Amino acid sequence: MNMALGALLGTVFVLFSVSLASEGLYHSENPEKPGFIIEATEEASAEGTKAEAPAIPVAELMAKADPAKGEQLFKKCASCHSTEKGAGNKVGPNLFGVVGRPIAHVADFGYSTAMKNFAEGGKQVWDWEHLNGFLTAPKKYIKGTAMGFAGDKKDQERADIMAYLNSKSDTPLAPPAK
Ligand code: HEC
Repeated sequence: MNMALGALLGTVFVLFSVSLASEGLYHSENPEKPGFIIEATEEASAEGTKAEAPAIPVAELMAKADPAKGEQLFKKCASCHSTEKGAGNKVGPNLFGVVGRPIAHVADFGYSTAMKNFAEGGKQVWDWEHLNGFLTAPKKYIKGTAMGFAGDKKDQERADIMAYLNSKSDTPLAPPAK
């Protein structure tokens, strides 16, 4: 009797986990397995999203950021981006002066519709918050972006990269106030 119950609970648990995992991976609006208890899944994934939000304020991260480390870390971006003034675009747009610049601003780069919509015609700029959020999980932050990069979940690495990007500018911004 106990074993049967245990097996049943086990199965339910596995199904639930698989459903959660696929929800997390694909963010599908419709669950893969119709007939599953949808409300429970949605509640759980809503909590999951909350827990994933960057916990440490970006000002705190930037206070300890090191542009020299960021330059090293930028190697994972350099196949797609140049940070040199006038060097042009690669797979991704040139990033010279990107910190503080309006989003999707490089005239000769073909941005995705998602990125252009996010930019709201130049009203949105790459401030610390937007950069931090985008670099954590590009495809979550701007659904439909063409940037094929999974994101960097390490807070200090993102901060270092942002400090490096800020140094590649004619007019670097002051670090964000705490
Ligand atoms: C596989 C190629 C690729 C990699 C790797 C990559 N990017 Fe991108 N990036 C892109 C593309 C393509 C876009 C344009 C996205 C769009 O239009 O949706 C972009 C856009 C951006 C933008 C917005 C620029 C603007 O003008 O609005 C920033 C900022 C950015 N990337 C930073 C980075 C950083 C920092 C890294 C490394 C941590 C990185 N990217 C890694 C391809 C890449």
